Amino acid sequence: MAVVTYLLRGPAHEELHTFPGYLYVLAVLTAAVTAFSLLVFRVIERLERQILEQNDELSQRNQELAALLAVGQAASSSLHLADVLDAALRAILNVTSAEAAEVWLASESGELTLERHAGESPEAFRERTRLAPGEGLPGLAVERGAAVVVHDLAADPRFVRPAVQELGFRTFCALPLRRRGEAVGVLGVAARNRAALTSPAELRLLEGIGEQVAIAVENARLHERVLDAAVLEERERLARELHDGLAQVLGFVNTQTLAIKKLLASGRKEEAEDEVVNLETAARRVFTDVREAILGLRASSRGLLPGLRKYLDDFARMTDTAVELQVEDGVEGIRLPPEVEIQLMRIAQEALSNVRKHAQAARATLALDVDGGALRMEVTDDGQGFDPARPVRTGWPRFGLQTMRERAEAIGGAFEIVSRPGQGTKVVVRVPLQQAAKVSHARALGR
Ligand SMILES: Nc1ncnc2c1ncn2[C@@H]1O[C@H](COP(=O)(O)OP(=O)(O)OP(=O)(O)O)[C@@H](O)[C@H]1O
Ligand SMILES: [Mg+2]
Repeated sequence: MAVVTYLLRGPAHEELHTFPGYLYVLAVLTAAVTAFSLLVFRVIERLERQILEQNDELSQRNQELAALLAVGQAASSSLHLADVLDAALRAILNVTSAEAAEVWLASESGELTLERHAGESPEAFRERTRLAPGEGLPGLAVERGAAVVVHDLAADPRFVRPAVQELGFRTFCALPLRRRGEAVGVLGVAARNRAALTSPAELRLLEGIGEQVAIAVENARLHERVLDAAVLEERERLARELHDGLAQVLGFVNTQTLAIKKLLASGRKEEAEDEVVNLETAARRVFTDVREAILGLRASSRGLLPGLRKYLDDFARMTDTAVELQVEDGVEGIRLPPEVEIQLMRIAQEALSNVRKHAQAARATLALDVDGGALRMEVTDDGQGFDPARPVRTGWPRFGLQTMRERAEAIGGAFEIVSRPGQGTKVVVRVPLQQAAKVSHARALGR
């Protein structure tokens, strides 16, 4: 502006004060203003573009963080590997340009097994579900200990699933899943677009998800090992119980048979028939007990709540006694060590077995709740009850009440039985949740 004022006022340019001079100044002025505004607009446009780009990047970051969070949450809330792997694969499909994703798990010998697939063309990807050490791009990634990314799959002989190539997939990334220096598996990600998975941000994100998945795989393996130990111990205990029970029954059968023979030999046919009926009743009772024990074994490999639900279903079908399951809010989310789950399951089974055998109840309830830092399980019936201080003598060995107490104590819990003749029966187990965690820790360390 100062220049313009000078031009208009300056003595050296008298000619500008004439009419054509004014026109000239106006033209210069218009040109200057136009140039200036163009410049300003361009700057504004550039700034706008930058802001939009930053926005894009921010929302991409946000999506990436959300994906990582989803996988992290799945990894920390579930011990079931399949859940974690599915969450990870879903996250990958949501935030990267991939159309299919898969997880391979490594065995101790280094062989890879296709564990999970998500996204397009599952049949084509499942063309091979096992890879020898070093075989295929996943095998190569394990050998190299680093990601292998290929953008021209059709021309790559190292990729061993032709159906995937034929379907037009061009990009494949095999990312080794490593834990403590050891490959536990491989994350495979595939896209049709040749230019997919080229941005460092996408690869970084895959690496982040890969780390979480590797932790989940290690966790699941530890959990399996602990579960194996607990299941083994439980089998031994059950075998002992069954053996003791059966030995008693066979002893009984033996003496009864001898008695029946003697009765027949001395012509006391009717008495002999009575003894045969006794024998038959005993045999039926043992048969039901053994069947119940087998049902229990099947149910206990599922985790406490699903196991209990399955057992109650079977129990209702087998015994015509409906048992109501009451699970307080919050119990569902509690994670218990396998040893604790198994013992609680067995206590519930024995308590219900007693309801079937002795209670003559119309109703029974199994309730689970959390009370003062302890998980409480109650099995209640409205049957005939008994006096716990004076167990009935029948000549048969009694294991149930004693074993339930021992099982509760083995997991640091307390056992109580409340009953009175004519008043129904209540079996209560309380396991402090902290104690439950300690049992699991000691087992994990092999103590
Ligand atoms: N819910 C119940 N209702 C009525 N009586 C019961 C109940 N639970 C246990 N009893 C009584 O307590 C006794 C001891 O139970 P326990 O479970 O120790 O032995 P059992 O069931 O007779 O035999 P086992 O469990 O060794 O097969 C039973 O024989 C029965 O008289
Ligand atoms: Mg019993």
